[in-house]
Amino acid sequence: MKGGVGKSITTINLGAILAEHHGKKVLVIDNDKQGNMTKFFDAHSYENPSISEVLTIKNYDIREAIVSTRYPNLDLLPANMSLLKANREILMDASRPQQSRLAKALDIVRDDYDYCIIDNAPDINMSVINALVATNDVIVPITADKFAFDGLDIIVDQIEEIKDFNSGIELKGCFITKYETNNVNTQSFEQLKQNSNYKVFDTVIRKTTKVSETTFNGKALIEYSRSCTASKDYFTFVREYFKL
Ligand SMILES: Nc1ncnc2c1ncn2[C@@H]1O[C@H](COP(=O)(O)OP(=O)(O)O)[C@@H](O)[C@H]1O
Ligand SMILES: [Mg+2]
Repeated sequence: MKGGVGKSITTINLGAILAEHHGKKVLVIDNDKQGNMTKFFDAHSYENPSISEVLTIKNYDIREAIVSTRYPNLDLLPANMSLLKANREILMDASRPQQSRLAKALDIVRDDYDYCIIDNAPDINMSVINALVATNDVIVPITADKFAFDGLDIIVDQIEEIKDFNSGIELKGCFITKYETNNVNTQSFEQLKQNSNYKVFDTVIRKTTKVSETTFNGKALIEYSRSCTASKDYFTFVREYFKL
């Protein structure tokens, strides 16, 4: 439900580590009309199909919209501003199921990928609901401040409602991004973990300017700065969460 917490950076780097380091076939899905991850991979365009077509055109073949990235095992389903209109169109077209369109489209490529990671918008709209219906797990990046868990209750309620469509969905937990060791974060991390009704992963993703640099050069941390703090943390996070 929040912007600027590291959703897109996390999707990019988990995807790149799984693909480049672990040799997994990975699909990352941009599900935010801002298209930040799409821009990161230099795949932003209004001419080419995107997630909008997948969500609005009946029997659309998702493979038409998927593009490759600079990493051989990592593919991308792009997004652009047309997702705004697509969200309205889904709502207006009740002639076929509205919540399960992404899940249905992904069935076509189920055997092509080991993992699919969806980078959502900070919102609950039809395309985010489609993502929740399609997914097994939900992970929530947070920043360690007083407002860390704001919006999480809404996600938890939403997940409960989604269970009618996707009984396997599970909130795997929150994890802290942009972590600064030299400030209030050290204390607040422990407090957050203790006070939380939610599972908080042990791994934190440290803050480093290397991350912002990658947004300019379009390289994942594993390529641009493999040994920086955030890069190491994403490797650790992959071990903790994916058990790889
Ligand atoms: N570990 C980190 N260290 C430093 N900056 C970070 C880190 N993670 C994300 N950022 C920066 O924070 C901003 C928001 O990250 P982003 O992934 O786009 O968030 P969201 O997708 O949740 O809106 C970006 O400018 C990004 O470079
Ligand atoms: Mg984003």
